[in-house]
Amino acid sequence: MQGFLTFILILSFILPCLCTRLNVGTTNAIYNVMQYGAHGDGKTDDSQAFINAFNSACKATGMSTLVIPAGKTFMVSKVIFSGRCNAKVRIQLEGQIVAPSKANSKAQSYWFTIEYVNGLTIDGNGQGGLDGDGSTWWESGGERPGALLFHSCNDLSVSNLRITNSPSSHVSINMCNRTTFSHVSINSPATSPNTDGFDISFSTDIRIENSNIKSGDDCIAVNGGSNFINVTGVTCGPGHGISVGSLGKKRTNDQVSDVHVRNCTFKETQNGARIKTVPGGSGYARHITYDQIILVNVKNSIIIDQYYNDIIPQAGDVSVSDVTYRGFTGTSANDLAIQLNCGSSG
Ligand SMILES: *[C@@H]1O[C@H](CO)[C@@H](O)[C@H](O)[C@H]1NC(C)=O
Ligand SMILES: *[C@@H]1O[C@H](CO)[C@@H](O)[C@H](O)[C@H]1NC(C)=O
Ligand SMILES: *[C@@H]1O[C@H](CO)[C@@H](O)[C@H](O)[C@H]1NC(C)=O
Repeated sequence: MQGFLTFILILSFILPCLCTRLNVGTTNAIYNVMQYGAHGDGKTDDSQAFINAFNSACKATGMSTLVIPAGKTFMVSKVIFSGRCNAKVRIQLEGQIVAPSKANSKAQSYWFTIEYVNGLTIDGNGQGGLDGDGSTWWESGGERPGALLFHSCNDLSVSNLRITNSPSSHVSINMCNRTTFSHVSINSPATSPNTDGFDISFSTDIRIENSNIKSGDDCIAVNGGSNFINVTGVTCGPGHGISVGSLGKKRTNDQVSDVHVRNCTFKETQNGARIKTVPGGSGYARHITYDQIILVNVKNSIIIDQYYNDIIPQAGDVSVSDVTYRGFTGTSANDLAIQLNCGSSG
């Protein structure tokens, strides 16, 4: 009888412990790509291990963390992380992710895609990076993939991450709302073709803060369907500046509004504050502010070009209105620091 009582007592001690453990397990589980078969040797294709680890993290409940550990290099040929997720996922990206060379690439439009995931956090903790091995693509013609696409992601937060040498644009943000990028460093040579830093389209409430962008094309391009875009504390250069547009190229009714660029520095860039529209298009660019801008030897510091890509002259213009330039200081590389080349009807 005494023995039986002791057994019950012990059992009642153990049970609560087991429950607590299980709770911890389901509220913030760790999913390390190494446990899903990633090699991290920089050579073997770890794409499937990444996808499997992400899918587990995504299906969990509560919070989950996908770990891409520091000190390792992961070669991935093409990856899509697709929601919707049960869990609120955090990606701790402290390792290096590298693309294969063009000859071995499986990427078409994008190398790394994250889609339909809400509330995602990606933190590189100042050490993580993605490298697109762009030099194997830049010299050849034809379509080149972008490095990273966020499609239909709300409440996304990306920080402390390096993205280098994309074959084409580095970060594309499409149909996302309430998204913040901070302390992101983008680096590609001035001569690399079409390597935009950030390309934003059909998105609302996007913030890019305290970041450094060196590229061969626009540092940031704000395309049609985007509004409430704030860029602060960004250093751009080399590159083609922070641009609204080009608008009116393919679509009619290309609309961009409420873009605020503040406390940004342009270093040796081809353009600074640029708005570009293609003749024959329709829509608008309005409520655009460039404020507290430092220029270092910039070619076209302030430029509105409504004759962008004007191959065949066409009637009609995207209307450009309520544009403010305030607090510009620094040096111009051109005699002409301000160029307002407005369209006939704009
Ligand atoms: C973002 O907001 C727009 C406008 O409210 C909405 O149409 C769109 O579906 C939202 N995007 C997502 C991914 O929910
Ligand atoms: C964006 O910038 C504008 C103008 O500086 C400011 O009023 C607004 O609060 C900012 N929005 C966000 C989300 O930071
Ligand atoms: C301006 O941006 C720089 C980064 O380029 C940052 O260090 C500084 O704190 C910012 N100042 C203000 C007033 O936002």
